[in-house]
Amino acid sequence: MNILVTGGTGYIGSHTVVELIGAGHDVVIVDNLSNSEEFVVDRIEQIAGIRPAFVKADLRDENALRTAFSDFEKIDSVIHFAAFKAVGESVQNPLLYYDNNISGMITLLKVMNDFGVGSMVYSSSCTVYGESDKLPVDEQSPIKRAESPYGFTKQVGERILEDLAVSRGFSSVILRYFNPTGAHDTSLIGELPLGVPNNLVPYITQTAIGEREMLTVNGNDYDTPDGTNIRDYIHVVDLAVAHLRALERLSEGKNADKFEVFNLGTGKGNSVMEVIKTFEEVTGLKLNYRIGPRRAGDVVSIYSDTRKANEQLGWKAERNLADMMLTSWNWQKAVSGLNEKSNR
Ligand code: NAD
Ligand code: UFG
Repeated sequence: MNILVTGGTGYIGSHTVVELIGAGHDVVIVDNLSNSEEFVVDRIEQIAGIRPAFVKADLRDENALRTAFSDFEKIDSVIHFAAFKAVGESVQNPLLYYDNNISGMITLLKVMNDFGVGSMVYSSSCTVYGESDKLPVDEQSPIKRAESPYGFTKQVGERILEDLAVSRGFSSVILRYFNPTGAHDTSLIGELPLGVPNNLVPYITQTAIGEREMLTVNGNDYDTPDGTNIRDYIHVVDLAVAHLRALERLSEGKNADKFEVFNLGTGKGNSVMEVIKTFEEVTGLKLNYRIGPRRAGDVVSIYSDTRKANEQLGWKAERNLADMMLTSWNWQKAVSGLNEKSNR
């Protein structure tokens, strides 16, 4: 199939493009490089052996999108990753997030409609569940009022697709990621956080390599076995494979509904301290950390019920926390050399 991937030079997008090419699909990436680098296209080619087409364009630029759709053979489906994703920044600048994430998606869907493209795989997040009353969280769990503008953009994106299923029979698979981490085994692609990372794992690897002085554990007085927050960390390559399954489900007409939702996690919750310990075990390094205060807005514990994805999508996470820590560390070592060159 010909697949258009928005945000395809980004963290999850690039890993997914590798899997798509590996499965024999032709890929067109549309990305404005607002949070990624063009060399990622070379890296994808190095890993996959085939170069994806790349169009540097902003999703809000309708003309540029039209050109992208018309320049290539008929696009069969779209995987939509492109969005801003920093929770704190979205609180500071909500309009930036509403414009980029929501306007961008609306423009994309309008152009898809004009070009007769009737399906999408959409990147959503477990953030839509907020602090769930029931663990593990299944797809029926209620959507809570979003804690941040970012989280709200994910809820709106889902709702738009749900409405389009009714209005024009548009088919979508919504993938709610838990906590993506890890990198490709080759260490050629991975996450490229801009500035000081908010997320735990990049903060750990940057501390271990000496780019940050010390990790602060955000509170150890929660009602969990060791007092630190529990999350469901999921390897980015496992996530990438799930997108392939979702696409196959759409193209083979196996979707039970025009609008379907799947949780993507391992189903296993790990505390912040367990993540640190696993990192230390697999790398043999001692991490410099201290216990700090709680971080505003953190849910205490969240991990996924994976049965629906296992049974209906035919997908199961195969990589464990040790794999995630090792590949993240190998990527950090590779990327620190890059940072020196590009100052990113
Ligand atoms: P990323 O920032 O690495 O990738 C997003 C890509 O989209 C970047 O390459 C960026 O340049 C591009 N982009 C952003 N706005 C654009 C626009 N208007 N036009 C064209 N390109 C644009 O992020 P990621 O971690 O790969 O996340 C991918 C998706 O998954 C996002 O929608 C994100 O909200 C969602 N998600 C991520 C996480 C996570 O923790 N990484 C968790 C849940 C959901
Ligand atoms: N943490 C620390 N120290 C740090 C960074 C994080 O202790 O320096 C802790 C956090 O407090 C939290 C855990 O590590 O307990 C995981 O934090 P992350 O920021 O890595 O991940 P979150 O679960 O907070 O956020 C993720 C995604 C968001 C999404 C959110 C939904 O990154 O995009 O899940 O819950 F909105």
